[in-house]
Amino acid sequence: MKILFKNAKIVSSKKIETKDVFVKNGVIEKIASSLNVKADKEYDLTGKYLMPGVIDAHVHFRCPGYEKKEDWESGSSAALSGGVTTVFDMPNTKPHTTTVEALEQKRDIARAHSKVNFGFFFGAEPANLEQVKKARGIVGVKVFMAETTGHMIMEKEVRLEKLLEALFTDNQYIIAVHAENEDMFKRRVEVYKDEHKPEIHSLIRSDAIALEAAKTAVHLAKKFNGRLHLCHVSTKKEMELLVKFHGKNVTCEAAPHHLFLSVSDYMKQENFVKINPPLRSIKDQKALWGGIKLEIVDMIASDHAPHLKAEKRKDYWEAPAGVPGVETSLPLMLNAVNDDMLELKDVCALMCENPADIFGLAGKGYIREGFDADLVVVDMNMEKPVENRKLYTKCGWSPYAGRVLKGWPVMTFVNGIVGMVNGRVVIEKVIGREVVIER
Ligand code: DOR
Ligand code: ZN
Ligand code: ZN
Repeated sequence: MKILFKNAKIVSSKKIETKDVFVKNGVIEKIASSLNVKADKEYDLTGKYLMPGVIDAHVHFRCPGYEKKEDWESGSSAALSGGVTTVFDMPNTKPHTTTVEALEQKRDIARAHSKVNFGFFFGAEPANLEQVKKARGIVGVKVFMAETTGHMIMEKEVRLEKLLEALFTDNQYIIAVHAENEDMFKRRVEVYKDEHKPEIHSLIRSDAIALEAAKTAVHLAKKFNGRLHLCHVSTKKEMELLVKFHGKNVTCEAAPHHLFLSVSDYMKQENFVKINPPLRSIKDQKALWGGIKLEIVDMIASDHAPHLKAEKRKDYWEAPAGVPGVETSLPLMLNAVNDDMLELKDVCALMCENPADIFGLAGKGYIREGFDADLVVVDMNMEKPVENRKLYTKCGWSPYAGRVLKGWPVMTFVNGIVGMVNGRVVIEKVIGREVVIER
């Protein structure tokens, strides 16, 4: 299959320049000012931007075990619709991805059903270090420092520190951490246990709880010279910590819900926006945008964590935490570009280049000759609302429903095959492949 893109405004973190791009057999073969080659399909992209496909380093596609919430068919369709061409799946499935056997089981499922490329985080628990050492081809190891959806948590902080020490010393993998301090969290649950308003979520899981766990993780990474990635940083306090410690060995991601929603949304959307770590104050939100400007925030990752409406309508203490986000993260960021919050080049750094560089993804993240043809065509002038009925996620709702966004992905290509046109998924058969890690 040969594809020719004419007059594409090619986006990188450094510059935007208009060129033609020729794709052959899933690979970007030639980029030049004017190409006159025969192709099976030609697209004139005049006025539109061509970006590398988005790499979303944090999704929960729920398989195996929670297929009612999401599966690889629906999750990867949602990804395609949002301009995402690669996802990294988290290990809090059933069974947990904490054994080589469970990893292989998950691999088989993704290979059979994913319409986008994929990678896997392996879960670390106090007792599975031998399994972690045997895991091959993974993007990293995930450690949950506090109780959250899926119940993957260390029982004792001592054991947690021992585990992190072992993982950092081993230094084979990037250690991605959900940083909230379990003991502090438990104490605050006691304080609020008789209340039921969703607003208490941010009070229970306070910013101090996130800071304490982030500090522990950062200090252990430094002490044992390991490679730490902080998931979903959400507070001003974490930004202040990272001003000091961020660098090659300590990276972080921010999630769209912490950039575009805040505590006041608990009043409007109740448990639908119950998420761990919780929504924060406007002050925290501003600090995250500040972190993006200072390049302390390395990447945007959706933390796509779908739960069914019926589950979200339950009482505060019963409702599971998590919001969907894989199909809205790029449109939200493009809208922010139109609102002058950042530049399109920055979006390319945060959503394509940096995840590829940090996780060492071979052939991804850039529009370069010899790289995979994972591409997204962007129309910065398209304006339309987020609509629940058009979503591909099985959960069928979005915390951004009704929001009118300007700037949308209008075509997604995975491995040189068109997967989405104007928001609709156009492929039936699987084209996703597991990523190759070069670290
Ligand atoms: O809110 C959350 N939901 N936080 C997590 O850490 C897990 C996630 C989920 O899997 O639903
Ligand atoms: Zn998390
Ligand atoms: Zn998560």
